[in-house]
Amino acid sequence: MEHVSLKPRILILLFCLLTLITNLYSQNISYNNAVVSSANELASEVGIKILKSGGNAIDAAVGTAFALAVVYPQAGNIGGGGFIVLRSENGFETSIDFRETAPSLSTKNMYLDKDGNVISELSTTGHLASGIPGSVAGLLYALEKYGTKSREEILSYAIELAEKGFRINYELANSINNHRKEFNLFNGSSKIFGRKFRSDDLLIQTDLANTLKEISANGRDGFYKGNVADKIVAEMKKGYGIISLNDLENYKPVERKVIKGTYRGYDIITMGSPSSGGTCLIYLLNILENFDLKSMGRAGIHFVNVLAEAMKRVYSDRSEYMGDKDFYNMPVDKLISKSYAKERFSNFILGEMIPSSEIKPGNLNKESPQTTHLSVADSKGDMVSLTTTLNDVFGSKVVVDGAGFILNNEMDDFSVKPGVPNIYGLVGNEANAIAPGKRMLSSMTPTLILKENKPFLVIGSPGGGKIITAVLQSIINIIDFGMSVADAVNAPRFHHQWLPDILQLENSYVSNIQIRELKEIGYSTKIIPDFARVEAILYNPDGTLTGHSDRRGSGKAVGF
Ligand code: GLY
Repeated sequence: MEHVSLKPRILILLFCLLTLITNLYSQNISYNNAVVSSANELASEVGIKILKSGGNAIDAAVGTAFALAVVYPQAGNIGGGGFIVLRSENGFETSIDFRETAPSLSTKNMYLDKDGNVISELSTTGHLASGIPGSVAGLLYALEKYGTKSREEILSYAIELAEKGFRINYELANSINNHRKEFNLFNGSSKIFGRKFRSDDLLIQTDLANTLKEISANGRDGFYKGNVADKIVAEMKKGYGIISLNDLENYKPVERKVIKGTYRGYDIITMGSPSSGGTCLIYLLNILENFDLKSMGRAGIHFVNVLAEAMKRVYSDRSEYMGDKDFYNMPVDKLISKSYAKERFSNFILGEMIPSSEIKPGNLNKESPQTTHLSVADSKGDMVSLTTTLNDVFGSKVVVDGAGFILNNEMDDFSVKPGVPNIYGLVGNEANAIAPGKRMLSSMTPTLILKENKPFLVIGSPGGGKIITAVLQSIINIIDFGMSVADAVNAPRFHHQWLPDILQLENSYVSNIQIRELKEIGYSTKIIPDFARVEAILYNPDGTLTGHSDRRGSGKAVGF
């Protein structure tokens, strides 16, 4: 008898548990005031604390970014660079480019041997792989111009996390352990990351805390001059690096006009050169707008076919025409025009594919959580989309000895030799050739979307060359397929980057039968591990906000 009366209670308990798990997984929770979504919960919480204490979205974004440099050293950084796209409640829009630049001693062929062959790993590991870091200058520029709080207050959170330490999660422990061999090549790196880590270990970073204190006390001069700058240059000398004191002192972030497009009546506000991200995103959306994607269905073969063919054309143009527009006349206006998108896709026939060889050559890429994105939105309408990177996971793997932070290996984002793929398998040409002071081409796509001129979505992602297609598919999932922000971000994705001529699909994207159908059309397919980690915040029609940190990472959207 007793077990019969328990049954309904067990069922109710099971139902509650299931609802809780579903909510936790999908994170479809709405908040009245603000949301911060980033790759690490501790960092998101820093942003929320700043907002709760009266800071604005830029204060929160900058505080979160500095915190990520401590708690997410795989990609969060002060030794790398990035981009911010922001829109304030009064409709003012701008972007801040703090991409790294090539050192003044860099040359076009610096990664080639005497026979003109690429020297393996020279642009990816070690001192020569680093561009001049832009993060500190860019974040402080944003804070001083658009924030409301003091530098000291904003940096205090990151300093505390570095000084007192934090318990590392499984992802970070695993990531460090996987790169131990490389860390142990360099003295500074080996001291901090050379040992074996377990999840829940306490990571205290005293040198990093001291560097952050110098920045807190002296602003950009605390990094680009004096003690810290001296340590960077001393570190360079240990490994034949070429960043000089002059290079550091001369680094400048650049405020740039955002680039804009429209998609089915929504306004897209995104990052222009030296990122290819925004340009490619608008270009892709312009092509896709001419198709009724919803009726094709997300897993329909025609949907995959249209997107893959669009991606191929866009990535082929990326390799030829995109680079730092301060150095190369990048035809942005044309690339983001609706007419060019139509013209470029005019040879597309539904159900058919054109092999990439009839357009150009490449190589298959690797995937790593090398970049990181954070989104901040508040109910007043302030929106900040910030993507920052060291390039590869832990960048060059070089920690500046005594200063406790990792240097980027962003030089590999240049085209080190025409047609030779970088670590993401992306190829490039003259537009993205190395030159002193030039910014290397990026795929980062920090983006804001408006609906009827009101805030709608803040979105962005890490993922190397796949950033653009991950952001694209998340947007389409929301706008075309009406999915919730969590489902849109979590849904399986696919990617084509023209070269190599391979349609790369996440495991669960389509069934075996559909793979066969895609092969019949002519696609070479490859099942790849999950890619990119989108951080998105949606404005709901009732004025509340729902954020979501991609299931593929271990981040969190926090709100209040
Ligand atoms: N380092 C990756 C990117 O900027 O696209």
